[in-house]
Amino acid sequence: MDRKRVFSGLQPTGNVHVGNYLGALRNWVRLQDDYDCIYCIVDLHAMTGDYDVAAFAEERRNAARVLIACGVDPARSLFYYQSEVPQHTELAWILGTMTGVGQLSRMTQYKDKAKGSEARLGLLAYPVLMAADILLYRAHAVPVGDDQKQHLELTRDLAIRFNSRFGDEFPVPDPIIPEHGDRIMSLQNPTAKMSKSDPDEGSRILVLDPPDVIRAKVKRAVTDSGSGVRYDWEEKPGVSNLLEIMSLFSGASIPALEAEYGSSGYGKFKEAVAEAVIVGLAPIRAAYEALDDAAVEASMRRHAAAARDKAEEYQLRVRQRVGLAG
Ligand code: TYM
Repeated sequence: MDRKRVFSGLQPTGNVHVGNYLGALRNWVRLQDDYDCIYCIVDLHAMTGDYDVAAFAEERRNAARVLIACGVDPARSLFYYQSEVPQHTELAWILGTMTGVGQLSRMTQYKDKAKGSEARLGLLAYPVLMAADILLYRAHAVPVGDDQKQHLELTRDLAIRFNSRFGDEFPVPDPIIPEHGDRIMSLQNPTAKMSKSDPDEGSRILVLDPPDVIRAKVKRAVTDSGSGVRYDWEEKPGVSNLLEIMSLFSGASIPALEAEYGSSGYGKFKEAVAEAVIVGLAPIRAAYEALDDAAVEASMRRHAAAARDKAEEYQLRVRQRVGLAG
């Protein structure tokens, strides 16, 4: 029987952090066992604000290497740069003709990012391109963190709208969101999510951070008043975030960690958190060092060619449905 299809993407701006890893990438890697997976460095999505061209080109290449180091396996999954498969943007245009501007302007991420700056069309249209990424390959499931839920809802709406207007073409995709780790918070402000765009480097742990940097960042992490180590997002968001991170890296349950560190004081607890993260990330750092940029780029090219062939077959059907063929 054909395996179900999974699609997901990651923006190459900034460096991959443990929020990306725990919220999404761990699922990307696991799902490769049971699904037909297609993964993308969504470089076009990363162009909606001002950026430095040379740094962007470098981050884009590096993101591919980091993701392979995390376990995205080009021997089992298609993995390429979004911009090298133009069918993504073609489908985005078609879906855009069916998307209300009102619905787009109500998206939380748009409202957050458009704040204070002159809003651009690319930022507003961003979720339509994301819907096109997913629907292009008729994906059934999309592993993401909690912050992408709303964009997935729009994708589902667009699939349903297209199907009822032009005939059944797209499966309505489901998000795959982990029960824990779906929303890793900033180390400096545990009420905001950990983000690539936060100007404070100390707010996030990168998957490639060396051990001494991880120790320093965890040591500086904001904790809460009092000294008890307790999982309680209302009273102790900083400690709860660290408990969650430690539990996900070590495999120990949160109650077990509460029992072990409950009264040990923040200093000792933070040392243990840092060690768990260091041990968890060590294989990724080692895999990253062992990879070769030229080999990664060659794989990305090959996979883009394969993805274009696949995408073109699917797009032929869309063109026929909407009256652009024949
Ligand atoms: P991006 O690049 O911001 O993030 C990549 C993935 O990491 C998850 N994530 C988090 N999970 C838990 N805690 C956090 N603090 C955290 N920060 C980020 C995100 O939810 C995401 O799954 N719009 C998408 C990229 C995209 C996409 C797609 C995703 C474009 N097309 C198609 C799925 C399918 C984004 O900006 O992700």
